[in-house]
Amino acid sequence: MSGTARVEASSYHTPVLLHEVLAYLLTRADGAYIDGTLGGGGHAEAVLQQLGPTGRLLGLDADADALTAARSRLAPFNPHAEFCQSNFRDIHRIAEERRMIPVQGILLDLGVSSHQFDDPSRGFSFRADDRLDMRMDQRQALDAAAIVNGYEESALADVLWRYGEERQSRAIARAIVRSRSRTSIGTTGELAAVVESVVGDRFRMKVLARVFQAIRIEVNSELDNLRIAIRDAIKVLAPGGRIVIIAYHSLEDRIVKDAFREAAATAVKSGHLLAPDTPVVPTLRLLTPKPVTAGEAEVAANPRARSAKLRAAERV
Ligand SMILES: C[S@@+](CC[C@H](N)C(=O)[O-])C[C@H]1O[C@@H](n2cnc3c(N)ncnc32)[C@H](O)[C@@H]1O
Repeated sequence: MSGTARVEASSYHTPVLLHEVLAYLLTRADGAYIDGTLGGGGHAEAVLQQLGPTGRLLGLDADADALTAARSRLAPFNPHAEFCQSNFRDIHRIAEERRMIPVQGILLDLGVSSHQFDDPSRGFSFRADDRLDMRMDQRQALDAAAIVNGYEESALADVLWRYGEERQSRAIARAIVRSRSRTSIGTTGELAAVVESVVGDRFRMKVLARVFQAIRIEVNSELDNLRIAIRDAIKVLAPGGRIVIIAYHSLEDRIVKDAFREAAATAVKSGHLLAPDTPVVPTLRLLTPKPVTAGEAEVAANPRARSAKLRAAERV
């Protein structure tokens, strides 16, 4: 039991880079906006405060707890705020069903919320000992326990290497398989203990963070969902509409950077010195050649902001 209903919406999660999000995202007060990662509704609330009488915002989140918290926080904006429990990879279908196309702005503030991370029962954190879950959408069948206890050793090592960039991926995968052959690994604490049996004390925290991040990404197909969402977000944006994405680790940020650059390119490289490049019509114009990061004061007030990288682009 996560107890979200008892959580004050404002303490659910502190929105990161709030002023920057508003500055890049908002272009028209009468437009339709989608917050694909509603969380506690912090960014959404600030957007709704800026909208005029015909503006609307649709908030998506895979997590039912997040929607409960955001619905209560955003109740004063009824009927301008709408909600949908869904994955942002379905942004095109959802925008179409809700007759929102063309959309004026799309925000993705990636990863887990502080609330999800701090709630031991969600199984995201190695600092607590509870069920190995890590699902953002609890209707989904695949959870962290199924991966840790069910994947073959080589597949586990692949996940740790690809999504955690963990150099000891093979040794950790071997230790997981050895441990689960005795008894299955059911909790975050048990998984952490297996990882700790492989790594030295000096790198313990960093390795644990990488292993947990890798398994979380695999549970929630985070990188695939992000690629699909960016591709489809571009299709639903109005000319002049904006897409703003905040990433918290290099794998996510690389996907955003590459997808934006590709959409903003004016030619496709031929790959051959003598063959000319093929001109293409760009669909995006980059607004942030370099990612925007949080200032010292924000990081001091909200350590989560330290790793945030915001990129924004405009539909042309
Ligand atoms: C960093 S939090 C967003 C916080 C929010 N901006 C706020 O101000 O409170 C990320 C949220 O996105 C949700 N999420 C992550 N990946 C998702 C996906 N693929 N589809 C829908 N929601 C997702 C998580 O459940 C989480 O609630």
